[in-house]
Amino acid sequence: MTYPFLLEFCFGELVPTGYVISFLILPQTPLLSITPSERLLIQPLTYADAKVIIRIRSIPEVSRYQGWEPKEEKEIHSLVDKMNDCGLLAPGQWFQFTITEKETQRLIGDCGIHPVASDRRQVDIGVTIDPQFQKMGYATEAIHSLLDFLFKQTDTHRASASIDPRNEPSIRLFEKLRFRKEAHLVESLWFKDEWVDDLIMAILRKEWLLPNKAFQAMPVSLRSAGIAST
Ligand SMILES: CC(C)(COP(=O)(O)OP(=O)(O)OC[C@H]1O[C@@H](n2cnc3c(N)ncnc32)[C@H](O)[C@@H]1OP(=O)(O)O)[C@@H](O)C(=O)NCCC(=O)NCCS
Repeated sequence: MTYPFLLEFCFGELVPTGYVISFLILPQTPLLSITPSERLLIQPLTYADAKVIIRIRSIPEVSRYQGWEPKEEKEIHSLVDKMNDCGLLAPGQWFQFTITEKETQRLIGDCGIHPVASDRRQVDIGVTIDPQFQKMGYATEAIHSLLDFLFKQTDTHRASASIDPRNEPSIRLFEKLRFRKEAHLVESLWFKDEWVDDLIMAILRKEWLLPNKAFQAMPVSLRSAGIAST
């Protein structure tokens, strides 16, 4: 059964009241569901998703640039427990969603948000799509939905992605979503037994809220600062 609740219920005092969203009231999981996109459902991760998520994240081409490689169901369960304990937009805590193809009801990937520990209005984002379903625009659609939620229904100020510069599909994905390349850190991460570079891409709330045409017309150098709020 779905009940409307104030967003304040989830975010405590940090979010202005007045926003109303739907929470799916399931046993032990009073969590929200993001407005569905045209082809996808974006829902909080649950215990029941563990097997599929482990399968997708174990595929070598999927895990190559990913830090989180759950091997056992209990790892997923403990993340779900933490999500339930901390709620959405808890500083320093990943909150993971599943991505389901509406038409077939197949779970085809996941996406996550990670508010930074020092200020939860800055949110890191990650996404994974099962290779069988890649290059169909699904990651673009899922992250678009997630950003719409973050920027239009919460007080998120900035969304960013930390990407291995060799991960071309991921760079292309975030470029398409109008993220700006902000930094290329050289050998800044010890990852899978080697030093690797880290590309930081980001977008601000005021940029996301600009109409697409106005954004495209703006020189890249001006996209980050001095934009009149809409
Ligand atoms: C990155 C990833 C999520 C993209 O998912 P996807 O559903 O295939 O992405 P989309 O279909 O929405 O495509 C987005 C853009 O990336 C491009 N793209 C997708 N796969 C590509 C590839 N293998 N090579 C080059 N470009 C690619 C698409 O063509 C599209 O750009 P376009 O519209 O200009 O053609 C997917 O490749 C993946 O799960 N990779 C493994 C996990 C990972 O590394 N995640 C990123 C962590 S930050």
